[in-house]
Amino acid sequence: MLLECFIFILITFLMRGVQCEVTEVFAEKGSLAVLPCKYSPTSSVSPAIFWVKANKGTVWMKQKSGVQLWGSSWLQKGFQRVRCPHTQFEKGDYSLQIISVTEEDGGVYSCRVDDGGIHAETMVLLRIITVSISPLVVMSGRDVSVTCTVTPGFNEVTAAQWFLNDSQFPRKTEIISPGETFKSLVKEKASARLTGKWTCVVGYRGKEGRASATLSVSGILQPPSDDTKVYAAVGSAATLPCVFSSGMIPSSPLWEKLQPGSLNKASPSRLPSSFSSSSLSSQLPWDKSAGLREVDFKDEGRYRCSGTVQGQRLVRNLQLVVAKIESSVLSKKKASVTLTCQLSDTSKVTEYEWVRVTYDLNGTQVFGSIHKGKTLSISQLSEESWGTWACRFSGKEGILGNITYHVPMMSGFSGQKSSGFSKNTAAVVGLSFLLLVLLLILAQMYKNHRRKQNIFQYPALEAIIHTISNEQEERERNRVKK
Ligand SMILES: *[C@@H]1O[C@H](CO)[C@@H](O)[C@H](O)[C@H]1NC(C)=O
Ligand SMILES: *[C@@H]1O[C@H](CO)[C@@H](O)[C@H](O)[C@H]1NC(C)=O
Repeated sequence: MLLECFIFILITFLMRGVQCEVTEVFAEKGSLAVLPCKYSPTSSVSPAIFWVKANKGTVWMKQKSGVQLWGSSWLQKGFQRVRCPHTQFEKGDYSLQIISVTEEDGGVYSCRVDDGGIHAETMVLLRIITVSISPLVVMSGRDVSVTCTVTPGFNEVTAAQWFLNDSQFPRKTEIISPGETFKSLVKEKASARLTGKWTCVVGYRGKEGRASATLSVSGILQPPSDDTKVYAAVGSAATLPCVFSSGMIPSSPLWEKLQPGSLNKASPSRLPSSFSSSSLSSQLPWDKSAGLREVDFKDEGRYRCSGTVQGQRLVRNLQLVVAKIESSVLSKKKASVTLTCQLSDTSKVTEYEWVRVTYDLNGTQVFGSIHKGKTLSISQLSEESWGTWACRFSGKEGILGNITYHVPMMSGFSGQKSSGFSKNTAAVVGLSFLLLVLLLILAQMYKNHRRKQNIFQYPALEAIIHTISNEQEERERNRVKK
């Protein structure tokens, strides 16, 4: 900064009729910087323009004749990094454009317009702002630093504001300022919640500079954090997610069930019998999700998925919360049943709802009216109770899951018919009754037949004894039968 001031004073001293004002300009590294220079011409003669950088000499100039010249360092392989669009000259705008600015471009520039003896000077201080992330490949759980750099720095204490995905990042940041360059640092332990666009905003003397960079964390992407809960209903299948970053294939992946009450003690032998960690053929090699074919209430608890990537063991814990419905008969006479929705962990549950599910002709689910509360009392005699009931549980972020219970249709044999007994059911019941009667008759007929057989056995035997013409063997056989 000292050097800049010195040069500024020097230039100011050397010039006659100068305008002593420095315009602040911020430009993000790699972008197009526009350095303003405005001058209202006093004559119709096209003026000579000189753009000079404090320690680099001529950047660009245009003589009165219209000949343009570039400073050697601004010409790279025949490509001009700076330009001054002549289409704007008529309006008195001699702004300089620098394409794809680098940190070295930061500094003091001056624009001098020579209009027949009158000199007008504009000073521009170009500051390059950039956000960088270190290391380049961020591994989950490791240190990561996001740095905002402004070159040249400020000679007053200035702070940077940080935004992650456009919402302010409230973390205290370390600021290294003043100095040759201004630096603001965010140091964090890398996790999925830090992924996204990091924007640094620096305000100085009414001007604002901003720069962004995208941070992506490698590691276990799903579930995103250790406190993730997976909800499953007893008897249903469940998936325990464990997805590593795309292309990152972990070695020796492992699933364990943690002992209740302990944070880290694992006992792989306790994995449920329907547990399957063998990756499906459809699964990508970095997807190590496991599944339970049929969830049991005792399968609830904490599970741990781990795998080694680049020599580092990555671990993610998740909790399986199991839901079940308990039914209790309140009074036998009225066939009144109370259904209770039970979860192995209710810490995230704020609301329970019961909804009757029916199916239309197309087989799509149709939800009936909603009953709020953890328990539901229904009468099994009422047609409105028959069918499938679902208990839906929700948390602050919405529906967490549901579990269904089937209320069987009460048969007509109970002798109690509800008012809403439909014709169809009556027909079915009648038919069943008829069938039963038929069966009873058949059974009776069979019994009679058997009895008759037994009666005839004896006269037949007598006949054999009395008839001498019958063979002896036959007689014996009959005796054996008897
Ligand atoms: C069944 O599906 C057809 C066509 O998809 C639709 O037009 C009809 O309304 C549906 N019926 C019911 C009861 O939803
Ligand atoms: C229960 O969950 C399943 C699967 O998410 C869903 O298809 C179904 O509609 C849900 N039922 C109710 C009553 O919300």
